[in-house]
Parts: sequence; structure tokens; C-alpha cells
Amino acid sequence: MPFFSHFCRQLQNKVAAAPKENRFPALDKRKVRVIMIKNENTAKRRSYAAFAEIFHFVFVENHLFSQKPLYFELFKETFPMIGDMKTVLSGVQPSGNLTIGNYLGAIRNFTAFPDEYKRFYCVVDLHAITVRQVPAELRRRPYETLALYMACGLDETKNTLFVQSHVPAHAELGWILDCYTMFGELSRMTQFKDKSSKHSENVNAGLFTYPTLMASDILLYQTDVVPVGIDQKQHLELARNIAERFNQVYGDTFTVPDGYISKDTMKIMSLAEPTAKMSKSDPNPNAVVYILDSKDDIIRKFKKAVTDSEAEVRFSEDKPGVSNLITIYRAFTGKSVEEVEAEFRGCGYGDFKLAVGEACADGLAPVRDEFARLMADKAHLEAVMKAGADEAAYYARKTMSKVRRKIGFVN
Ligand code: TYM
Repeated sequence: MPFFSHFCRQLQNKVAAAPKENRFPALDKRKVRVIMIKNENTAKRRSYAAFAEIFHFVFVENHLFSQKPLYFELFKETFPMIGDMKTVLSGVQPSGNLTIGNYLGAIRNFTAFPDEYKRFYCVVDLHAITVRQVPAELRRRPYETLALYMACGLDETKNTLFVQSHVPAHAELGWILDCYTMFGELSRMTQFKDKSSKHSENVNAGLFTYPTLMASDILLYQTDVVPVGIDQKQHLELARNIAERFNQVYGDTFTVPDGYISKDTMKIMSLAEPTAKMSKSDPNPNAVVYILDSKDDIIRKFKKAVTDSEAEVRFSEDKPGVSNLITIYRAFTGKSVEEVEAEFRGCGYGDFKLAVGEACADGLAPVRDEFARLMADKAHLEAVMKAGADEAAYYARKTMSKVRRKIGFVN
């Protein structure tokens, strides 16, 4: 079968050249990656089946399963006719305790992507130092953020979970992209304007070029989809512009990414000032509900939430406090606006706020329990970080060698 032996030889050579630890995957069916085989004829399908046996893939109907991302990648390189997977990437800064805004606007959506996607979720510690951090806290928080990712349902065997600074290519590509980003573009970033007014004593160059580093996070993995809250939309558009500009100069190099912004929870507001975003750096502890707050704290904070003088549970632009609480309640109960309005018709705000607090606390309870369990095993978290960084670095290297070649760097 010439088709098979030709590709098989190619693949055998690649596997022989691959790092040792990637060579002999012990298949655990719970931890598999999948390749779709599209509309192939019988002869080719038979080849895949034979191939699967030799290289420890599992072949079932139209799918090839592999536990090792590297094998997976080598397979795709060898059989380019096979449909590619879409890539998802997002990140969260380890710059404070994470809020229900981070949870509902971003992390919970990370888990919405099925196994057909290649998924990268990083803890963006390089971004965090644009604002002064206490080193001991910055050292602790990546573990917490990673454990939270996992506690929120990101299975480390199916998602690549890693710490940004463990893959130096982020900073390297960040610098390169700085040279393809205009001063005027960065000056227009509203988050830069906000943060530089809040931290006027430390308006550093990193704060200014932060969005190019974010573009680098995204473009490094040829990302198709970026799940974020609405506050990141402007940064995402910049990443698209940078990718398009680079592609125009050098030919197709980067995938131009799309955002995935969930309509209902794209902007969770502060409980104390419901026209402002809920933010982990808010100095008022009653304004923010943290994912890891105790049930009592959560209920207390919701009881204090700012509403209005109408005493009517109704979703409306001129009722930002009540509308925000309805959004949060809906996110934890799955109910529609009409259902929530009907449920609390004729009730005072007291009952409503208590119900929101309870729904939120109960919804987060499993995350809190799982977080505590995961944090007790630091060695496991370290192993996850390490494996994630190795895996991410593999993909990052591929993009970097393409970028270096296109720009004209000597390899
Ligand atoms: P960060 O760490 O500020 O926030 C993490 C994610 O949470 C979302 N978010 C919210 N969503 C709804 N309501 C809120 N109140 C709320 N607060 C925060 C954010 O939109 C974000 O999705 N620059 C990013 C981190 C980043 C990144 C990336 C994201 C760095 N590189 C690459 C995506 C892809 C940031 O500061 O997020």
C-alpha cells in the first residue's frame, strides 16, 4: 500500500526525532485527543487503522484518538489532508483574588469548548507586573489561578494549562509585535488611560505596550477564538489589526482571531457602584464578590448591594443595580429575565437580594471545595504547569520559527 508506507516512513522518522518522553504514550482512554477523518475512501481508512495500531492511536469509526499532543501534531503534519482543529486561547492575570466577573465573563466560558478544539489557558503573570506586585503574593497566585481553572471544570488532560512566563516566546513575540504596532493605536486603548490615571506614580512602558503582549499570547498559538469579557474587546481588535498588518507585509503568518463574548455576562458590574465594572482591584470589599468568598460573605455583600428606590425587580437600563443582580441570578439559575421578574413580582428588594446571594453562593460551593482539594496538592499543580508549558512551547516554537524566517532573522 504505497500511500501508507510513504507516510508511515515519514512519520516514523519524525517520531524518532521527537523528545523521548513523547514517544511511547500509554493510552488512558479518559485522556485522549481526537482527529476527525473526513470523507475518506476505504483504502485510506484502512491505512489509518493500521497506522493507529502501530503508533498507539485508537481508531474508532471516523475518529483517531491520541493521548499525546505531539503525536497528534506529527500525525497532522504527515497527513495534511485531515481537517484541522480550531484553537481557543485565553488568559487571566494573577493580580488579585478572582471575582465572579472573571468567573461569569470568562472562566466559565472556557469550559464551553468541546474536545474538537485545541484549548490553551494561561495565567498571564507577565501582564500582572505592569502594576507593582508583592513578590510573595505573585509567587503564590499562579498556583491559585491554575487551581481555580481546574476547579471551574478545565480538565488538565484535555486543556493546555500553563503560566505565561514559563514560555519565553510570549515576551519574544511581544517585542517583535511592538515593532508592528503604532504609538497612536496604543494611545487609544481605554484600559491604558484608566490604569495610567489609577497608577499615576507608575505609568511604565509595559502598561503602554500591554496590548501587544496580549496580541502575542493570542497569535503565538494561531488562535481562532478568544473567550473574554467585553472589557477586552478593544485589545482583541488590536490583536486582529496587528495580525492582518503582519500578514500583509510577510504573507500569511498568523491566524486572525475572533472574540467569544457571552452576551449576558460580558460585563458584571460592581455591587457598590453598578455603573462601573466589578474589578478585582476595587478597594471597596463590598463592591466585589470573590469566587472563593464564604457563603456568609457572599450573602452579606449581596444584601448591601446598591439598588434604587423603586422596589421593583425589573431589568432596565435605568436600573443598573437591579439589572446587574438579575444578570447574576440568571447566570447561576439559568432562568430568563421574564422568569426572574415574575418570580420576584411584588417582593421587596430584601428577598430578591437574599435569593441572588444564595444562588451565587450555592453555585460557587463546588468550585470552592474543589479548589481547596487541588491547593492541598502543590506537587500536582506544579506537574500540570510544567506539562502545560512544555506543550505550549512546542506550538510556540512552530510559530516563532515561521516569524523569524519571514522577518529575516538568521536562524
Ligand atoms: P483580566 O485578568 O483583567 O480578566 C480576566 C478575564 O475576566 C474578564 N472579566 C470580566 N468579565 C465580565 N465582567 C467583569 N466584571 C469582568 N472582569 C474581568 C476579562 O474580560 C477577561 O476575559 N488582558 C487580559 C488578560 C489576557 C488575555 C490574554 C486574555 C492577557 N493575555 C490573551 C485573553 C487572551 C486581562 O487583563 O484580563
